[in-house]
Amino acid sequence: MRRVAWALLSATLLRAESPQVKRGAEIFRTTCSVAYCHGANGTAGRAPQLTGRAFKAGDVFALVMYGRAGTSMPGFAKQLKSEDVEAVAQYVVSLSGPAPAEAAKPGAREIPASVREGKALFFDAVRMGGCGKCHELEERGSAVGTDLSTLAPERFRNLRAIPATRIVTAKPADEEPFPGLIVEQSADTVRVHDLSSSLPVLRTFQPAQVHITPGGAWSHADAVQNYSDAELEAISGYLVWLVQTKP
Ligand code: HEC
Repeated sequence: MRRVAWALLSATLLRAESPQVKRGAEIFRTTCSVAYCHGANGTAGRAPQLTGRAFKAGDVFALVMYGRAGTSMPGFAKQLKSEDVEAVAQYVVSLSGPAPAEAAKPGAREIPASVREGKALFFDAVRMGGCGKCHELEERGSAVGTDLSTLAPERFRNLRAIPATRIVTAKPADEEPFPGLIVEQSADTVRVHDLSSSLPVLRTFQPAQVHITPGGAWSHADAVQNYSDAELEAISGYLVWLVQTKP
């Protein structure tokens, strides 16, 4: 019990201390919490309350960037830099408190102590470029990049040297080009993950509105640069364990 309390406390301190979350709080205070909208600290206002809800950083990022059609939630892509929107997203996620305990999820696998740290690092919610922001595993994270649960363990040996083989450049009609990963490309729809920020956003276009060319200015090494070698090794350990013990 005491260990659980300690874990919760340190998770709270960690969130409170992150400079990105602090900056997000500041931007939130000046941009989003006007009395009419989300209230101070996301607690009141006429728009939905933001505290105590289980948000994913990527979803919040997309919502703040592009707004929600059919509601009075506007997009801030023109007003705020994408780093600032990311900071706000991390802050909003921090309002929802620590993720529910592992044991509470039905079907969650018993995890050995030796790979627990790697798993925590993989899903680190506060870190820029956390793996879980682009990879979904064990029903957590966002499914932007490759499904890692299907790979052979050798693929996790060098996490700094992952080739970008499927990256494209997408150039929408009235916007700057961005590096992307195609999700769907058919006669009437192009769906592409926009990788220009560390919280990728899924965008949908009509084929005539966007020009796609192979290759793009994106590198996986940049995406994971905020992890140390020791941390990447711990993450490797978790991934190898995961694919080797797959039911
Ligand atoms: C900003 C998004 C992003 C982040 C963060 C990210 N990845 Fe990826 N990852 C991708 C994308 C996109 C691909 C697919 C690249 C391609 O196929 O061109 C990928 C591919 C991979 C692959 C290669 C799979 C193969 O085909 O061999 C591995 C392994 C991987 N990622 C592990 C990780 C780990 C571990 C982390 C955290 C340390 C991480 N990724 C963080 C987006 C990301």
